[in-house]
Amino acid sequence: MLISQTMNEALNQQIGNEFSASLQYVAIASHFAAETLPELAAHFFKQAEEERDHAMRFVNYVVEAGGRAEIPAIPTSQAEFKTVEEAIQLSLDREKTVTEQINELVQLALKETDYITNNFLAWFLTEQLEEVSSMENLLRMVQRAGENNLLFVEDYLARHHGRKTAMPTAQT
Ligand SMILES: [Fe+2]
Ligand SMILES: [Fe+2]
Repeated sequence: MLISQTMNEALNQQIGNEFSASLQYVAIASHFAAETLPELAAHFFKQAEEERDHAMRFVNYVVEAGGRAEIPAIPTSQAEFKTVEEAIQLSLDREKTVTEQINELVQLALKETDYITNNFLAWFLTEQLEEVSSMENLLRMVQRAGENNLLFVEDYLARHHGRKTAMPTAQT
C-alpha cells in the first residue's frame, strides 16, 4: 500500500465530499429546470457530472495506491431556493469549502512526506482555482442581471456554451 491508513480514510472522506457536491448540483440544476432556466440547468447538470468525475478520480487513486475505497454517507442536498442568486451563492460556498478540504489533504500528504498523493492532488488545486473563479463570475453576472432579468444570464451561457469562464485561464 502506497498510502497510510490515515490518508486512505481522508481520501475516502473526499470521495464523499465530491459525490455530495455532485448531488447538490443535480438538485440545483433540477430547480433551475423547474424554473424554466434551461441554460442554467444544463450548466449545473454539467457541473454535477464533473463532480462525479472528481469522486471517481479519488476512487481510482485509492484503488491504484492499494487502499480501500469506502464511500461515506452523503448528507441530504438543499433542494429549495428562494432566488437563483441563493443557489449560486451556495455553489460558490461549497466550492470554497472543497478548496479548503483539498488544501487539508495536501497538508496531510506533506506531513506524511507522501509525495505521490501530493502530486495526485496538484490537479485538484488547479481545478479548484478554476471552479471558484468561474462560480464567482457567474454569481456576479446573476447579481448584475437581477432576478427579473435572468434571461441575460441564459443568453450569456448559451453564447459561451462549453466555456466555463468569462476569460482565458492559466489552464486553457
Ligand atoms: Fe470537485
Ligand atoms: Fe467543484
